[in-house]
Amino acid sequence: MRILGLVSATHDSGVALLENGVPELVLEEERLDRIKRTKRFPKGSLRIALGPNLERLKEVDVITTPWDLSRLRWTFTRAVFGRLPWSLSFLLQSSHTTQENEIVLLNNVLRRKFRRQLGITELPPIVNVSHHDAHAAIFFVSPFEEAAILVMDGFGDDASTSAYIGRGNRIERLWHTGIFNSLGIVYTFVTKYLGFNFSDEGKVMALAAFGGDTYVNAFRELIRPTPDGRYQVNFDYFSYDAFGELRPFKRRFIETFGPPRLPGEELTDRHRDIARALQVVTEEIVLHMARDLRLKTNATKLCISGGVALNCVANARVLEEAGFERVWVPPCASDTGAPLGSTLWHYHQTLGRPRCMELTHPYYGPTYSEKDIRDALAVAHLTGERLSELELLERVARDLAAGRIVGWFQGRSEMGPRALGNRSILADPRRAEMKDIINARVKHREPFRPFAPAVLLERASEFFHIDQPDPFMTLAPRVREDKKHLIPAAVHVDGTGRIQTVERSANPRYYGVIETFGRLTGVPVLLNTSFNQQEPIVETPSHAVSCFLRSGLDVLVLGNYYVTRNGQSRIVCDLNEVAT
Ligand SMILES: [Fe+2]
Repeated sequence: MRILGLVSATHDSGVALLENGVPELVLEEERLDRIKRTKRFPKGSLRIALGPNLERLKEVDVITTPWDLSRLRWTFTRAVFGRLPWSLSFLLQSSHTTQENEIVLLNNVLRRKFRRQLGITELPPIVNVSHHDAHAAIFFVSPFEEAAILVMDGFGDDASTSAYIGRGNRIERLWHTGIFNSLGIVYTFVTKYLGFNFSDEGKVMALAAFGGDTYVNAFRELIRPTPDGRYQVNFDYFSYDAFGELRPFKRRFIETFGPPRLPGEELTDRHRDIARALQVVTEEIVLHMARDLRLKTNATKLCISGGVALNCVANARVLEEAGFERVWVPPCASDTGAPLGSTLWHYHQTLGRPRCMELTHPYYGPTYSEKDIRDALAVAHLTGERLSELELLERVARDLAAGRIVGWFQGRSEMGPRALGNRSILADPRRAEMKDIINARVKHREPFRPFAPAVLLERASEFFHIDQPDPFMTLAPRVREDKKHLIPAAVHVDGTGRIQTVERSANPRYYGVIETFGRLTGVPVLLNTSFNQQEPIVETPSHAVSCFLRSGLDVLVLGNYYVTRNGQSRIVCDLNEVAT
């Protein structure tokens, strides 16, 4: 049984291929077309999933999409007629830029794009899965036999927050909020109000740690917890339910919090305080829902999914304070996981097939051969030294301990928005100045954003207040007081670290480099940030070489190939050619 999951015409376009309940490939189109959170038809991903001429499409039994079109059309119609005449603005593409209007006709659009862009006229049946059902279906590959499931995002086809209970191969929805009563939309619009882009919610989460409590009480008026374990957005402050992105805030919001910050305008205490208020209230609402779910379902485990599940600070509070024994967030909690979720829902929930695997690692991207690596180096006139695994680990660990920044490219790429050890930039967390050095030389990120520590699983609780694994960088636990001085570059200003716990069986080579660094320095922790420079994470060896040449990385590792800058590395070449 082979199921192809597909997202197109909305952000995080991509594919997932599921064979008998096990993912074969999960790939976002942005990795290939190099447009962050692209909405384009995932032509490149399909060619990798099904062969250059899509010859394996005949082996696909069903195509699934994480959008239930009848629900979506009903929701869209209600939105358009809900606040007439203003809500006619929803007919304008500019009022909802993350989603194409054509999504309400997605099945027809997909058939047309397969025909026009790939020359395919015969498709397997297309099955539409409800958006939140697709997010919730990640439970089927969680470590839990039974769990409560909380799905929170901007909006799906009929909801913005949903609660489920999962048992074995069955999931049941308990409740949901409407699409406009959305914690996720509020977070996104306040992110925009603070002068950042859509998808920059993580920046605001980081900025919040620098803010004071000036606006927290005022913000509590904007989203209130309700006695039924849910929440209510106060539309005295918001008008996105009538105007979408064209006019998301009412005058009362501006009177309370002041004018919006223009992109690039200096960040002031007011902006930091608003970010803090937004984050605090988000944490309170998420905690309120999680506590209520704990009481009502009696489940001791919780899965969190949807874009809001990327809020690792809120997730950590849920783990500490909501009463669950364990919290699990997948590596693809955002819509990057929606294609996979739609396949899982169809396989287990619709077809009733038993569960058969647990997602213990995120490495479901394409593979690249040694020849691909050698070719990428040759195009850039770079010479790589081929080392044995032992030599490689030893040399890289010594480089890191000496303060060098390493571009680390190995095996299959990660699904989801985080680099988790196969497309990572690695550095020494013991050097307080390392964050600024990486920013100046490679990443050019805002100085208030933290870098994440990757830690050996067995040593995690020694450094952090956590007693469960977090292989996907989804929790930000507090760093233990007596360890902060050992990893200053990995500690955020609020005393937390966005950890990744690394297990040997999940990624032996990545584990090996952290372990070797730990043996050399006594600190089994590395700084890990995504391998990119203001672009989607590198996918191919050529992307990695291009990023190495453009940036101030000291060392590039591609599989077993070790490359340094020794004069000859700074080759003048056509970067566009290298990147394609
Ligand atoms: Fe979503």
